[in-house]
Amino acid sequence: MSSSSPSAAGFESLERETDGESLDVEGTIPEWLSGRLLRTGPAKFEGGDDTYNHWFDGLAMLHRFGLRDGDVSYRNRFLQSGAFEDATAEERIVRSEFGTDPCRSIFGRIMSFFSQKPVDNGNVNVAAYGDAYVSMTETPFPIAFDPDTLKTLGPVPATENPDADMSTAHPFVDRDAGRAINVTLAFGRTSSYGVVERDFASGDRRLLREIETDDPSYLHSFGVTDEYVVLAGFPLVFDTMALLFRSGTFADALEWKPELGTRFWAVRRSDGELAGQWRGPARFGFHHVNAFEVDGELQVDVAAYDDATIVDDLYLDRLRSADTTGPPAGHLERFHLPLDGSSVDVSRCSDTRIELPRIDDRRATRDYRYVWGGGQRNPDNFIDQIVRIDIDSGDAETWHQPGCYPGEPVFVERPDAAGEADGVLLTVVLDAERDSSFLAVLDAESLDEVGRARVPHHIPFQFHGNFYPEETS
Ligand code: CO
Repeated sequence: MSSSSPSAAGFESLERETDGESLDVEGTIPEWLSGRLLRTGPAKFEGGDDTYNHWFDGLAMLHRFGLRDGDVSYRNRFLQSGAFEDATAEERIVRSEFGTDPCRSIFGRIMSFFSQKPVDNGNVNVAAYGDAYVSMTETPFPIAFDPDTLKTLGPVPATENPDADMSTAHPFVDRDAGRAINVTLAFGRTSSYGVVERDFASGDRRLLREIETDDPSYLHSFGVTDEYVVLAGFPLVFDTMALLFRSGTFADALEWKPELGTRFWAVRRSDGELAGQWRGPARFGFHHVNAFEVDGELQVDVAAYDDATIVDDLYLDRLRSADTTGPPAGHLERFHLPLDGSSVDVSRCSDTRIELPRIDDRRATRDYRYVWGGGQRNPDNFIDQIVRIDIDSGDAETWHQPGCYPGEPVFVERPDAAGEADGVLLTVVLDAERDSSFLAVLDAESLDEVGRARVPHHIPFQFHGNFYPEETS
């Protein structure tokens, strides 16, 4: 019997749903910090006696931290997805997830994954599509929820390309313009990526560009500059024949083919024109950090890995075990894509490892200096510190505490912020010794802790979330 890793509680189910309870605050939560932090993540790792295999599979729970006048409240609710409702009603795992396939018959896979039972377990990210708050996974089936009660409102019709099989959970949302861009993937004899844009007010969806490929990459996010959408096709690719005709999990159909290199496509946002394609060195990454154009080249920043072993590192038995070292975070790398079509260059921005990267969103699509994220102080651990990388120098600030495991840090700018990074970070931290979690508020420049609000129980690690300031009327 192997012993548990110190952060194993972050991968254990949370059954309890709470209703807006007020939290004990230590330190000081800034009075100007007014609004809601909405997050989603896997929180139930069983269906009856069945167990999910991979961290990406767990049933989604929504979390809401309400901040006002220095007080903090917390509420959580399971997302009432089809996956959740089926598993609850039948007391078993019914729908496929990334690393779990309940339908083990030979021809069951495509039917269960793509046709009859949509994969709608929105445990990856939340977004505001106009007035609609949605929770999403990597399929075109986002589910709307109430941002205050967290009540599930139901599927959002045709938000993404409904004909696609996959859609990233990292849409580029331009709230001012009332539009979102996303990238989809449709499998077939020849597969195709789709760059889609949606207008919130009209609901119109525009297919900016289709790009055909025989080696469709697992695409978790993409880059956006003022003028272009940049796709990075890392060489972790789907064997579409396996996906269509063989049994096994979705993850089983992924192959690492470094000989393909990393393929890049730049699609012009104004008219969908394919403005460039490149092939660079083989890397893997989940998360684009930022992208922008400077001196005739696109600079595309990614939390990158030398290969795709990180995907296998995130199986739950490994994450919970003390016998395996923590999955290493990536390195911030910058891909240089010259618009004259010459070859790709890649540079490493810092030696400090980073994952779940965030920036000051006011700098998105523009040159910028700071990236925050999770990192590892002790390589045996899961994410055990918050880092702030200064891209200009490569240096990093860190925040860490013994036995504490923070999640994605969300930047919130101070009202009338002076410049980039003038604000705070919000991060949900597992305090393993207390077996409970807290919301930490850190100064975004120094990473000094400003205050924390304790939740009376643990919160399983989440992937992503966003802060939505209170509307001032
Ligand atoms: Co992500």
